Amino acid sequence: MYYPEEIVEEVRSRNDIVAVISQYVKLMKRGGNYFGLCPFHGEKTASFSVSPSKQMYYCFGCGAGGNVITFVMEYENYTFPEALKVLADRAGIALPQGEETEEQKRQADLRSQLLEVNKEAARYYYYQLRGQGGERGYRYLAGRGLTPETMKKFGLGYSPMANQALYRYLKNKGWKDELLRESGLVKIDERGARDRFWNRVMFPIMDGNNRVIGFGGRVMGEGEPKYLNSPETRLFDKSRNLYGLNLARRSRRPYLLLCEGYMDVIALHQAGFDCAVASLGTAFTPGHALLIKRYVSEVIITYDSDGAGQKAALRAIPILKGAGLSVKVLNMKPYKDPDEFIVHLGAEAYEERIGQAVNAFLFEIDALRGQYDLSDPESKTRFHRAAAARLSEFDDELERNNYLEAVAARHQIPREALREMVNRYGGRRVTAEAEAPEQEGRPRKKKEKDEGFQEDQRLLLNFLATEPSAYRGLKGVLRPEDFTGPVYRPVAETILGTLEKGEPVQPAAILSQFLEDEETRNQVAAVFHTALSQESTKEEREKILTETVRRLKRARLDSQVREETDPRRLQELILEKARLEALHIFLD
Ligand code: UTP
Ligand code: MN
Repeated sequence: MYYPEEIVEEVRSRNDIVAVISQYVKLMKRGGNYFGLCPFHGEKTASFSVSPSKQMYYCFGCGAGGNVITFVMEYENYTFPEALKVLADRAGIALPQGEETEEQKRQADLRSQLLEVNKEAARYYYYQLRGQGGERGYRYLAGRGLTPETMKKFGLGYSPMANQALYRYLKNKGWKDELLRESGLVKIDERGARDRFWNRVMFPIMDGNNRVIGFGGRVMGEGEPKYLNSPETRLFDKSRNLYGLNLARRSRRPYLLLCEGYMDVIALHQAGFDCAVASLGTAFTPGHALLIKRYVSEVIITYDSDGAGQKAALRAIPILKGAGLSVKVLNMKPYKDPDEFIVHLGAEAYEERIGQAVNAFLFEIDALRGQYDLSDPESKTRFHRAAAARLSEFDDELERNNYLEAVAARHQIPREALREMVNRYGGRRVTAEAEAPEQEGRPRKKKEKDEGFQEDQRLLLNFLATEPSAYRGLKGVLRPEDFTGPVYRPVAETILGTLEKGEPVQPAAILSQFLEDEETRNQVAAVFHTALSQESTKEEREKILTETVRRLKRARLDSQVREETDPRRLQELILEKARLEALHIFLD
C-alpha cells in the first residue's frame, strides 16, 4: 500500500512519541526529556532518551534513533505499512481503504512480499500434511506424541516428495522467480528450479507477531541433515527471533524456558509449559536475550544434558545476564532433552525439575569443579582459587557474600579461607585496571579532529532546530554547502529552507525523509540529540554558537582560499573571512 506524505505526517503527529514508547519502555522524566533502558541494546543505565518537543528518540549508547513510526517498526519488527496501520488505529485515523489486490501485494516492498510468500508456503505445507500425500508425515508426528491440536497450533506441515511442488504452486499464484529465490524456499540456477524442502515434516517459524518468516524441516526418521532450515533472508534474522515466542510471550508464567530444539518447544507447550522457546538452530545471541528481556526477567535454561548442551548453556549464561536477566539451569538427567523427559516422566516431574533449577552462577561453579580432580590436594586447591576468582567478580558486597556462603556449603570449602582468597583477588583486580596504560597516537588525533567537525555540524543543526532566533544572525552566512555528507547536507537544506520561510522546524517530520535506511536515520536522530549542557546561560549559548559557526566556516574558507586562483574571487573570500571573525550571534 502506498500512502501519501500528508497521511503519514498526520499519523505521526497524532501519536505522541512519549505515550507510545511508554507502552514498551519504562520512562523517567529528566529535564525536558525522558530516559529509559534502551530496548535495542543491553544496558544497565538509562541512555535511551525520548524528546517530547522533537518527537524523537535517540540512544546515546547504541545510536539507535528515529520517530514514532520507526520505533514501532523496529520494536515490533513491522514493515512500514504495518507500523502505520497500528499507529493510525491507535489515533483513530482511517487510512485510505481498499483490501490489497494480488497485484498490489506483489508491488509492495520486498519485506512485505517475503512475508506474503512465506504465509502462502506455510498454508500449502499445512494442507499437504492433511492430504493424501501427507500421511507418512502425519504418522511420524503422531508417533512422536503430538496431538492434532498441537500440530494445528504450531501450523505443522509436510513438503511433498516432488522437487518442484511448492515452486509450481507459488508460480501459479503469480510470484516471480526472483522473489522465490530471495525467500530461500526455492533454489534456482542453470539446472532450473528446485524446492529447498522436500519429503520433510515442516515447522513454520513465526516471529513474535505470528507472521511466518522461515521454516525448519525434519527428515522422518534417520537422515542427513536431520533438520534443514530456511537461510537467512531480509525477513529471517536468526539472531533476533526465537521459536515459540509468539505463544510464550502470552504465557502467565514469570519466566521463559529456553531449550535447544523445535520438538522440545512443542512438547513443552503440549505438556502445559506455554513459556518455552528455542533459538533457531544457531547459537544464542545478545539479540535473543534482549528480545526475552521485553517479556520476562527470568530465564530457565533447559538445554540437552549431553556435553554439547551443557557447553551451550555455559555460553548462553553470560549473554542472558548481560541483558539483565536472572538465570537458572534445569537438570533433565537421565534424559537428553525436554521432549524425551516428558515422554518418559510426564509434566508433573518436569514441573518439579523447574522448582529444583539451580542458580546459573552455582551451575557455572559446578561445571568448573568438573575440570579438577578433587582427590588430588593440589588440583583441589586450584579449584578453590578458581572459584574464589569468580566470586570476586561480584561488585556488590551483599551479593558476593551470599554467593560465597552458597559456594562454600555446596562444595565443602571452609568459609573463612574462601573469603580471604576472594578478598585477595578483589584487591588485585582493581590494581590491574588502574595500571592499564593509556595509548596515545597520531592517527587518533586526526580522527578526533574529524569527529569534532561532525560534532560541530550536528550541534549547529540542532541549534537551528530548537532556537530559531539563531537564524537571524546566520542568514546569508550559513549555507547548506557548509555541511557535508549524505546526512548533514540534506538536513541542513531542509532546516535552512524552513527557517527562511519563517516556519517551525519539525525534527520528527524531517526524519520521515530518511525512513529507508536505518543507518542514515540513526545519524539524523543523533543530530537532533546533540545537546548543549542544559544549564548553560543564554550568553554561554551565544558564545558556543558563534564559535561553532566560525570553526565550521573557517575550515571551509581556508581550503577555498588555498585553492582559489582568481584574484578577485580570492579578495572576496578574504573579506568573508574577516566578516566571520567579527560575527556575533544573539539569541532571544
Ligand atoms: P537436536 O539434534 O538436539 O535435535 O537439535 P532435537 O531437537 O532433539 O530433534 P529431534 O527430537 O531429534 O527431532 C536441536 C536443534 O538444533 C537444530 C534444530 O533447530 C534442532 O531443533 N538443528 C539440529 C538443525 O538446525 N539442523 C540439524 O541438522 C540438527
Ligand atoms: Mn529431541
